[in-house]
Amino acid sequence: MRSHYCGALGTANIDETVTLCGWVDRRRDHGGVIFLDMRDRQGIVQVVFDPDTQEHFQLADRVRSEYVLKVTGRVRARSDATINPAMATGQIEVLGKELEILNQAATPPFQLDEYTAVGEEVRLQYRYMDLRRQEMQQRLILRSRITSAVRNFLDGEGFLDIETPILTRATPEGARDYLVPSRTHPGQFFALPQSPQLFKQLLMVSGFDRYYQIARCFRDEDLRADRQPEFTQIDIETSFLDEAGIMGIAERMIRELFKSVLGVDLPAMPHMAYAEAMERYGSDKPDLRIPLELVSIDDLMQQVDFKVFRGPADDPQGRVAALKVPGGATISRKEIDDYTSYVSIFGARGLAWIKVNDIDAGVAGLQSPILKFMPDEIVARMMERLEASNGDIIFFGADRAKVVNEALGALRIKVAEDQGLVGEGWAPLWVVDFPMFEQDSSGNWTPLHHPFTAPSGSVEELAANPGEALSRAYDMVLNGCELGGGSIRIFQRDMQEAVFRVLQIDEAEAEEKFGFLLKALQYGAPPHGGLAFGLDRLVMLMTGTQSIRDVIAFPKTQTAHCVMTDAPGDVSAQQLRELNIRLRQTREEGAQGQ
Ligand code: AMO
Ligand code: AMP
Repeated sequence: MRSHYCGALGTANIDETVTLCGWVDRRRDHGGVIFLDMRDRQGIVQVVFDPDTQEHFQLADRVRSEYVLKVTGRVRARSDATINPAMATGQIEVLGKELEILNQAATPPFQLDEYTAVGEEVRLQYRYMDLRRQEMQQRLILRSRITSAVRNFLDGEGFLDIETPILTRATPEGARDYLVPSRTHPGQFFALPQSPQLFKQLLMVSGFDRYYQIARCFRDEDLRADRQPEFTQIDIETSFLDEAGIMGIAERMIRELFKSVLGVDLPAMPHMAYAEAMERYGSDKPDLRIPLELVSIDDLMQQVDFKVFRGPADDPQGRVAALKVPGGATISRKEIDDYTSYVSIFGARGLAWIKVNDIDAGVAGLQSPILKFMPDEIVARMMERLEASNGDIIFFGADRAKVVNEALGALRIKVAEDQGLVGEGWAPLWVVDFPMFEQDSSGNWTPLHHPFTAPSGSVEELAANPGEALSRAYDMVLNGCELGGGSIRIFQRDMQEAVFRVLQIDEAEAEEKFGFLLKALQYGAPPHGGLAFGLDRLVMLMTGTQSIRDVIAFPKTQTAHCVMTDAPGDVSAQQLRELNIRLRQTREEGAQGQ
């Protein structure tokens, strides 16, 4: 029907007769002339109807916001006085000759330019309207360009796009599974894949060498701005490449993507060991745009009587660390109290601080609730180590290392945001040398990545000292966001069994859950490894938004609910019977019981 997109018109089209199809963004009546801003996915153009074309003028008078129109007219230059530099098509307008109303529209639930006033819930309920907004259109268009660029790159590198099942068995990535009841196998359930991990490894056993998939993954976990219950991975696996080979391909892909889509040359990506990242930033996904760092002072605090600090300093599992914020001495008591409540979310039991008013005056030039507990000499050495200067504030955390890292790691980001200390641009890095396992609250080992990640040592070393074992895993981090991660995999059965032993997965359980993988490892599995990027997070960063919901056409809310379709929903008694499922409680009963 159309000859041009509205937003694609420009001075090059002057005097051309064009046919446009789109929506009425705005209609204005100016002394007998009607202006229609017409919108399609490329943008907006102004169409003018004057009374010379009576029949169409009258029709134009009847249109309202969001009506769907087909307009034919002539492109003309705007007079100097009416040029709109804020509009991409602001140099021109279309003089309407013919108008056809293709469809009417009910009064929109919100004006598209007033979307912030209605809140996200309403936007999600009328997502198809929200997606008409140029900002949302641009994001989804960019997303499409990104997946297309990724496919082009991987196709060019000899990767094969192979699909893996959605109805499958549990794949352990650390989240809860979404389950699907089987009708044909009463009482049994499929699990939706948390990732294609096991299948892509099996494809390596089959000899496919270089695999990729833009794969949907499902995880029933606590949701945040960068987590959705279903999300998309750029999933990659290769055979016969080591870490350097795989990270090299992945890095080149991201680099070329930023260049081709955003015109950005990403800076070099340093490799940082997990231990160093935790020591300096309290996080395994440090935002390197922030110049603040954590500094350990355990050795100094072993020499003070202040119990709050001395205890963790003496404890091998403890940590005492300082975070210096240049210029932070202006932070008020009220703000310090707010930061203290903030770190308590992470389990911190307090937030000690020192303000540096006059460094040359020694302890007299400092202001703090904790100075009275420490010898002056220790305070002086601490100031020296922190290279403190006038106007700084120094925050302290003392607790189990995990608590200190999480609390000060999060505070580092929050203070930097509040104080305007987050630098511009892109700060990517690789985090490497992760521990294989961490201990949960009951002292059991759990894998830091997944249990198919290869350790860097031997079976014997792993069994002798699981806490010391490092893995051959790597994460790519960009501006404090974990963009992707992967590893070299275990490809020999004895090593896989050794890992299961550490995880206290006994033979019967291993056989029951992953028997098919263990069996496959016996039939000539090649050395292999790979990684997966979170596509939604990548698009979020590249479009400069704060939430992955902004780059997913139909996302779910924080409670994993689709407000538009009202999913999840009830099913009929008949369906339940077919599935051999009896509910312990219906939704109504559940609500009454509350
Ligand atoms: P991992 O669990 O680290 O690894 O996931 C890879 C990447 O996927 C993204 N991601 C998510 N994005 C949105 N919402 C979520 N709930 C969510 N969870 C993860 C992140 C993350 O870096 N099979 C391995 C990869 C491998 O080893 O090859 C895996 O899934 O950006
Ligand atoms: P108190 O002796 O409990 O009044 O604490 C003195 C200062 O130390 C206060 O500023 C507390 O916020 C701070 N504090 C208490 N516990 C901790 C902790 N575990 N880590 C850091 N600071 C703490």
